[in-house]
Amino acid sequence: MTTLRLREQDLEGKVAVITGATRGIGRAIAMNLASRGASILGTCSHASSLDLIANMRDEIDALYKEANQERTCRTTGLAANITSPTCAEDIVKKILDLRYGVDIFVNNAADSLPGGIGDLTVNEIQKSMISNIQTPVLIVDEFVKRKMFRPESRIIYISSIRSRQPWSEQLMYAAGKSAGESLCRTWSMAFGGNEEKFSFMAGTTANSVSVGLTQTDSVMQCPPDALEKFKQEFIPLQSIPRFGQPDDVADVVGMLCSRDTRWITGCVLSASGGGIKIG
Ligand SMILES: NC(=O)c1ccc[n+]([C@@H]2O[C@H](COP(=O)([O-])OP(=O)(O)OC[C@H]3O[C@@H](n4cnc5c(N)ncnc54)[C@H](OP(=O)(O)O)[C@@H]3O)[C@@H](O)[C@H]2O)c1
Repeated sequence: MTTLRLREQDLEGKVAVITGATRGIGRAIAMNLASRGASILGTCSHASSLDLIANMRDEIDALYKEANQERTCRTTGLAANITSPTCAEDIVKKILDLRYGVDIFVNNAADSLPGGIGDLTVNEIQKSMISNIQTPVLIVDEFVKRKMFRPESRIIYISSIRSRQPWSEQLMYAAGKSAGESLCRTWSMAFGGNEEKFSFMAGTTANSVSVGLTQTDSVMQCPPDALEKFKQEFIPLQSIPRFGQPDDVADVVGMLCSRDTRWITGCVLSASGGGIKIG
């Protein structure tokens, strides 16, 4: 497991918007980017989770203090539920209040509830599509319409190996993640510099990261027999056969946010210890 440390300040002056930043993979991504100098707007489902963002801010402050380095970036929390039709507007309002632009957008929060074939309700189907497809589309659209994205921005959609390793109990989840990968391919083509109307954000890349089984709250809250079944399903297929950690994924996302990856766009990267082999 990666120990928390102050890193090279290559993201100084950049702003990252990360959905679902209070826990698990989203939090690890926020810590990675903040420890490189980025200001973070991290969202969560309810105001009751905002304390977790405040804790993260304290941890980052402590890192800078320990290194005797001045901290110019800020970490801000916002309750913006991805199931709400106003989620994108709420995020935009906050960015305007903070007088930020956007350099990095990580679509991390997701509706991961199981939805078994034959048992799905209209509400469950709609909730899944709103959370995993509609809301990320609306967020990117708002950032584009308002010219909030800056040149050479990064869009990263957190996908799942479930879209390639299907299971009848996660029909809509897998479909939503596949849609997210497709969105990135289209965004990459539109925002790279080919289209005049998006020239203000030329050089922007859009990639998805296909995540394998990772030890986060949502997974650890599964009943023990279900957790064991997931481990048996996924870990033996991995090239590196251990339980993935949030930092394993955050370091891949962090890499995609660096300037060195400016030539990678429209891709799906597997962050699963080889659980799924793409390309
Ligand atoms: N863990 C895995 O094994 C795994 C595998 C493949 C893909 N993934 C993907 O990785 C991403 C992160 O998963 P995770 O395991 O890190 O989850 P997690 O530990 O459960 O954290 C979820 C985060 O998303 C936020 N969130 C949940 N529902 C939300 C909503 N309706 N509106 C806004 N924010 C919401 C939570 O905020 P609150 O604190 O307010 O609840 C929290 O910050 C997801 O896209 C998931 O599909 C995970």
